Amino acid sequence: MKLLIDTDPGVDDALAILMAHHYAEVVAMTIAAGNVGLRHTVANALKLVDVIDAATPVHPGCEHPLVLRAADAAFVHGADGFGDTGYTLSPRAAASEHATLAMLRLSHQHAGQLTVVALGPLTNLALALRLDPDLPKRVSRLVVMGGAVNGRGNTHLVPAEFNIGFDPEAAHIVFSSWPMFDLVDWEATLRHGLDYGDIERWLCSGNERAKFYAAISRRTRTWAREHGRERLLSADALAMAVALDPAIIEDAQERHVGIELSGDLTRGATVVDWEGRMGVPANARIVLGVKQARFEEMARAALGAA
Ligand code: BDR
Ligand code: CA
Repeated sequence: MKLLIDTDPGVDDALAILMAHHYAEVVAMTIAAGNVGLRHTVANALKLVDVIDAATPVHPGCEHPLVLRAADAAFVHGADGFGDTGYTLSPRAAASEHATLAMLRLSHQHAGQLTVVALGPLTNLALALRLDPDLPKRVSRLVVMGGAVNGRGNTHLVPAEFNIGFDPEAAHIVFSSWPMFDLVDWEATLRHGLDYGDIERWLCSGNERAKFYAAISRRTRTWAREHGRERLLSADALAMAVALDPAIIEDAQERHVGIELSGDLTRGATVVDWEGRMGVPANARIVLGVKQARFEEMARAALGAA
């Protein structure tokens, strides 16, 4: 499987990226702003390529959402997005080609073979679609981590999930022009947490990836426990597991999903036509449940634990 990962690393993006490199060929990472600013998300992606000892190109994308500025998630992921450990920066350089142009080039180079996994705000992908509306014809599958399909979001705008709420206009472009994609939302993430004890065991495996992930995730693990989360939530790792192993899906429903752009309380909400009242074709396969044991196996493998 060939993957292109659009991402804003971010602690849970990091677990997804480790998982992707364990199971598949990653042709590139295209980088979004989101969890923290682009300077950090690019540096974090380059550092992960070092830790994995891979050669994956890292393409910086857009610094800001398409229309309005948005607040980042540094309060969860740390000011640098990786738990403020003060890690040594990678000596690697980012690619000079913009993320959006790299997406389009790679979609031609690997036409019909590429799975695109979007783990951050959809700014880069939206721009690629505006430049070339035929992009979906060359991509074999798109998996998006985003949304809260029944309005139980994770941002200050209650029904909005972070990736969609950060750049709703970009999400609107993608959701209204991609014919059919897999959607792994925040509410599925809530149903598929990871046990803290299991994670802590996997992090002790002695492997370099586990050591690095233990360091960068310490702060978010503490934050999650302090905020009463019974399990560790890794939205991006869940989406990556769905991308890498479609057979992991136990329950999914195809529905039309639109993006609210203007509500005072609801901007960034993903509005699902559950009853088919709008009379428009479904655009998303909403993943409602996965095989939990398989997800845990994939997370463990990502960290190189036995
Ligand atoms: C999403 O928002 C980010 O903070 C995470 O990396 C994930 O992609 C979850 O809402
Ligand atoms: Ca992310």
